[in-house]
Amino acid sequence: MSDIKVARYKIRLTREKHTSSAPFTLVFLSDLHNAGYGEGNQNLLAAVRNQSPAAVLVGGDMVTANEKVETSRALSLLDGLTKQYPVYYANGNHECRLKHQPEKYGNAYEKYSSAIKSLGVHLLENACQLLEIEKTKLAVWGCELPAEYFRRGRLPKLDGAVLRRLLGEPVPDVFNLLLAHQPEYFPAYAKWGADLTLSGHLHGGMVRLPLVGGVISPRFRLFPRYDQGLYEEDGRKLIVSAGLGNHTIPLRINNPPELSVIDLI
Ligand SMILES: [Fe+2]
Repeated sequence: MSDIKVARYKIRLTREKHTSSAPFTLVFLSDLHNAGYGEGNQNLLAAVRNQSPAAVLVGGDMVTANEKVETSRALSLLDGLTKQYPVYYANGNHECRLKHQPEKYGNAYEKYSSAIKSLGVHLLENACQLLEIEKTKLAVWGCELPAEYFRRGRLPKLDGAVLRRLLGEPVPDVFNLLLAHQPEYFPAYAKWGADLTLSGHLHGGMVRLPLVGGVISPRFRLFPRYDQGLYEEDGRKLIVSAGLGNHTIPLRINNPPELSVIDLI
């Protein structure tokens, strides 16, 4: 077995939105950056299978926007996952770079997005899919922010109006689960109406220190606030995955690759 850490969370469904549903489990994967865990990513697939999830959620940056744009390991993982589970996928800033810079990356995004959709992945490009698991109604959203919200240095404020323009309004009377790669805008997601947001992007702060947490983000921000774990604001929650891979600087210290497992109870 590989050294993948399982980070487990119990999230209580808000009572007014849900009645007598049985508990169920979701697995959340993020920031693979085309890393491989065994041939065909079989070790990672086995780690997911161990959790018997009702669905798998993907938070973006499964590939890296660089000169070669390698996608084979991400595709073999998604191939294995879609054979067993419904898979909902939101793009990260790397997929968005492929998409919005064809002059640099050619048709890499078209090829990758077509490939994952033909595997059966539900790709949510500022879109929502309604599903029902154990009598619980969920709206799963994929949020795709423009590049300026990922830039180095001082980040712009994310206005609620921008989120509403991108996504529309949350679905009333269901559990709104938002896949949003960039965790630093959690207060805006919570205010928009996400009951639970799942994010990645910061790779756990790459180097983790006891009592301090993550030291630096992949975009060289020191001591990022939402680096890994569970956060809460006004009863709305954020889970940030430390991710499964690296790009640019292959550095993870005291920060194993992570599978986030969410029990909805
Ligand atoms: Fe990212």
